[in-house]
Amino acid sequence: MNILGIETSCDETGVAVYDPDRGLLAEALFSQIEIHKPFGGVVPELASRDHAARLAPMIRDVLGQAGLEVADLEAIAYTGGPGLIGALMVGGSLAASMGLALGIPALPVHHMEAHLLAAMLEHEPPEFPFLALLVSGGHTQLVHARDHGDYTTVGATLDDAAGEAFDKVARLLALPYPGGPALAALAESGNPVAFDLPRPLKNKGLDLSFSGLKTAVRLLIEKHRRDAENDLPANLRADVAASFQAAVVDTLANKCQLAIEASGLERLVIAGGVGANRSLRDRLKALADQHGFRVYYPRPSLCTDNGAMIAYAGWRRLGEAARGTPRIVARPRWPLDDLRPVAAEV
Ligand code: KG4
Ligand code: ZN
Repeated sequence: MNILGIETSCDETGVAVYDPDRGLLAEALFSQIEIHKPFGGVVPELASRDHAARLAPMIRDVLGQAGLEVADLEAIAYTGGPGLIGALMVGGSLAASMGLALGIPALPVHHMEAHLLAAMLEHEPPEFPFLALLVSGGHTQLVHARDHGDYTTVGATLDDAAGEAFDKVARLLALPYPGGPALAALAESGNPVAFDLPRPLKNKGLDLSFSGLKTAVRLLIEKHRRDAENDLPANLRADVAASFQAAVVDTLANKCQLAIEASGLERLVIAGGVGANRSLRDRLKALADQHGFRVYYPRPSLCTDNGAMIAYAGWRRLGEAARGTPRIVARPRWPLDDLRPVAAEV
């Protein structure tokens, strides 16, 4: 069965074809980093326009790579939310149009469910039930995943997402957008115990908070800034980056440990862009070895946004798909605990 996956929720256009028997047949990804870089963050209108310009040619290329014609597709999965409304509408409109024209289902997929299932595309996929740590630019959640589509959020950030904190601190350090990978690279040469930054809500339940940590970093930078100049000495910048990263990694590891203990689950699945962070991966692996649970990570390219995870999640939802006329679903906010898609009011 050939399933086309389309991801356009934010600043990456992702397209892939997945076949449950043969695996991932072809994929393509376009990152809009260069478009948004001058603005220091994603500009929603520019994101939508670029998805609109790029999506159809990318679908044609991916089908070509897979040696398929459009008529060989049997279902289309697209990100129905959460995300930027205009960006979601681009993917949803094209997916529903193709579904109508081809007479095949067009399935709206929950972006965070797709992240949560990305590890299923690896050679040794996790079995249900498991605890998922979803750490992306817009979300930070701990999810008890009992089965496909049966998810309960057991902890979430009260303010900033982990990726957002990385991006904001990177900005404070004048690192280029997107900040997470740049900050992680700078942290490599810094001392993670140089500064004693807060570990917010440590050992206090399963919710998280990153905005106080971000403020602590801002105050630290202001304190060490060379008088009227707007910069920090190079070694201090690296130490700030390393100390901040250590605080985030410590906090996430603490919450994972508490959630594993509270739930009795034996598997931890990492998902979302911050899951590509090397320091976090190493730390959670060490924690798992120490406490006797197993940790699963998708490869870094499956942690960040991509079309393959959307195609996979769409396949898992195919059985329950309404076979009626494809609808355009675009939900900027969509809780993971209730996956029923609601049509956009258009
Ligand atoms: O999942 P994702 O690609 O998009 C969203 O759905 O948000 O996550 C993007 C986020 C950004 O905040 C980015 O800075 C962060 O993931 N990120 C990282 C790393 N790679 C991406 N954060 C820390 N270390 C990394 N290596
Ligand atoms: Zn994402």
